[in-house]
Amino acid sequence: MDLVGSALDLLARLDARPPADLAEQEATTLADALRPVVRGLGRAYYTEGESLVGDTQYDRLFHALRTLEELHPSLVTPDSPTHRVGGGPLDAFEKVEHPVALLSLGNAFDGDDLRAWVDRVYKGLDAVLAEDERVAFVAELKIDGLALALTYRDGVLVRAATRGNGRVGENVTTNVRTIRPIPLRLGPDVPDSMEVRGEAYLSRSRFEVLNERLVEAGEKPLANPRNGAVGSLRQLDPTVTAARGLAFFAYGVGPVEGGTLPATQSGVLDWLGSRGLPTGPERAVFEDVDALVAFCESWAGHRDRLDYEIDGVVVKVDRLDYQDVLGQVSTAPRWAIAFKFPAREATTRLLGIDHNVGRTGVIKPLAILEPVQVGGVTVSKATLHNADYITSRDIRVGDDVVVKRAGDVIPAVVGPVGADPDRDRPVYLPPDACPVCGRPLVRPEGEVDLRHLEGGCPAQLRRAVEHFVSRNAMDVDGLGTKGAALLVDVELVTDLPDLFTLQREDLLALEGFKDKKVDNVLAGVEAARHRPLARLLFGLGIRHVGETVARDLVAHHDSLDALAAAAGEDLEAIDGIGPIVAESVVEWFKDEANRRTVEALQAAGVNTRRLPEERVAATLDASAPLAGVTVVLTGTLPTLTRPQAKARVEDAGGKVSGSVSKKTGLVVAGEAAGSKLDKATDLGIPVVDEAGLLAILAGAPVPGADPTAPTAAPEPDASAPATPTMTLPDGETRSLDALGTDDPEQGDLFGS
Ligand code: IVH
Repeated sequence: MDLVGSALDLLARLDARPPADLAEQEATTLADALRPVVRGLGRAYYTEGESLVGDTQYDRLFHALRTLEELHPSLVTPDSPTHRVGGGPLDAFEKVEHPVALLSLGNAFDGDDLRAWVDRVYKGLDAVLAEDERVAFVAELKIDGLALALTYRDGVLVRAATRGNGRVGENVTTNVRTIRPIPLRLGPDVPDSMEVRGEAYLSRSRFEVLNERLVEAGEKPLANPRNGAVGSLRQLDPTVTAARGLAFFAYGVGPVEGGTLPATQSGVLDWLGSRGLPTGPERAVFEDVDALVAFCESWAGHRDRLDYEIDGVVVKVDRLDYQDVLGQVSTAPRWAIAFKFPAREATTRLLGIDHNVGRTGVIKPLAILEPVQVGGVTVSKATLHNADYITSRDIRVGDDVVVKRAGDVIPAVVGPVGADPDRDRPVYLPPDACPVCGRPLVRPEGEVDLRHLEGGCPAQLRRAVEHFVSRNAMDVDGLGTKGAALLVDVELVTDLPDLFTLQREDLLALEGFKDKKVDNVLAGVEAARHRPLARLLFGLGIRHVGETVARDLVAHHDSLDALAAAAGEDLEAIDGIGPIVAESVVEWFKDEANRRTVEALQAAGVNTRRLPEERVAATLDASAPLAGVTVVLTGTLPTLTRPQAKARVEDAGGKVSGSVSKKTGLVVAGEAAGSKLDKATDLGIPVVDEAGLLAILAGAPVPGADPTAPTAAPEPDASAPATPTMTLPDGETRSLDALGTDDPEQGDLFGS
């Protein structure tokens, strides 16, 4: 069996029998099986930059081995992978011995683990703490890249080494010199010699660009940003590293000679920042343990806002003298711990490929997977995007594949792991007919997706109705995804306007539709007759018409008839509407069936005119409360989540930015606001809390804004995505059935 197969097999064995339950003989057998797998996975991860299994899966195997060794000390072998920090260095680069080893970190997987660690810290510091003294902890984001040790002599970068196995790394100085954010000279006032430690990483946006280029060039895409960072540094040709556009955050120092540094970790980070090194901006110091735990937990849910991947929060004792008192155990310090988020990637078996019909008639391949835990939910289906995606990654049924799930995004298959290119499993062939209705499919020139040539597919209609009644569209109360699908299946609804002519007795005949439910549905339908025009337009499911585009269109055309009459150039003249959207709208209204739909909606008394109270597009409304104001959100707000706060700001005409600069007009700071707040204060930028923000949204002036100055023209931001409103189902298995899988430009990757 290959390494991944063995790992999956061992995980199944651990599920069946926890290591603590095993007698000596069984424990020996299990440890013998675990050792080469943990070693192999570790080597692939640290040396090749390849995650063959998810982090959680690796951690489980590693911890199982460690538990066995703790319970049965005779099982400890001198070469056990639990003694090593990582893999070995590669031969192609010169080896470098680290004067002081780069340590790894122990893990906390939840708040309880973290509190238990805090208790151990207090115990360890018992002899030095004054009565009632509170220990300060600094929390930093744990960036998922690779660790570097940078040696500066007289402020000049003289050597850069990877961590390698913690004691011996690789000399990657030439490549590191090409990483722009790493200063080649530090200053002013730096020690004679010092080592800076930090993480080199690939931002998500760079990762996307690189992968597009690699796929275009017919090369294998990078599995994730971390692999991309490792691969980019391992290049023997530094011009390749330079072109990759790596970034860097410093998070600490190694040996320092001929100079002194601040006496706390947070002080050292500030000092590094003042000498020209980038440091992670989202950090905070806590004495209160509840607030520390809240900070760590809240980042698990907010990590998608960042342009870089984080896999946890590193918590460190702030005072360096206390760190010395605490010391270390084998390869990890007692003064720091990694609060790990659930991994968002896992490896599992691809059992089959199904096809999903979207509301515009697009057909997307859907992976049927052996159920696997990813980021806290069980995933059994994942998108495979399109045929080109499958072919470029050579994904075949029967392969072990990496599945990724990031926040609000539908789980996706990243690619096969450890697959033999010569395996005799058949390659994927796209269908030429719809698997649901049997109608022919086409792939229009220049597009990646297969679509229906003609309408009439029941699966497509089901999706169209689900979308039409959904919360952000017509919001038909009482009719959820299931109800909508049922109405289509029993043919009470064969077109969208049918919804408005539903009869009470027909509904009562349906299973589960009692009097009260039918009343709800009918009342919901009645209310939907009077929705704003922009919602109707969005609900019609015209390609490329998401909520923002619908609002912009309605801001310029006051009825569906007026839109139907508009020429492509009229639409293109609207700020934020390009030729593709314009053409899509014009084509939609040209279609005979769609014209009939519009007429039937009008005949059924559905509002097709702009309502007086309907808002003008936020991008155009210079009188909106935050028109033209760039807002930075930092820290945890008491009631609003980050996405909610962002949506509120954007609805009010503001633009949300991730970093504070002179252009920032307002900073909204919550609990545990970090260095952004300090920077805002330095720059004299107005800062408000959540209550202050809500007051501004309700019409209060923005503090510090000159009330006599003319309102700046807002910056149009056509690229702002629709607010992700998808919430994960509470249930175990996450199904894709309820999610549209059409063109992401339509904004329906975020179902309501
Ligand atoms: S501190 C003893 N701080 O996580 C302290 N590490 O599993 C060890 N990492 O090798 C490192 N962000 O590559 C620290 N803010 C941060 C970090 C961080 C990412 C990585 C680093 C280290 C690994 C430990």
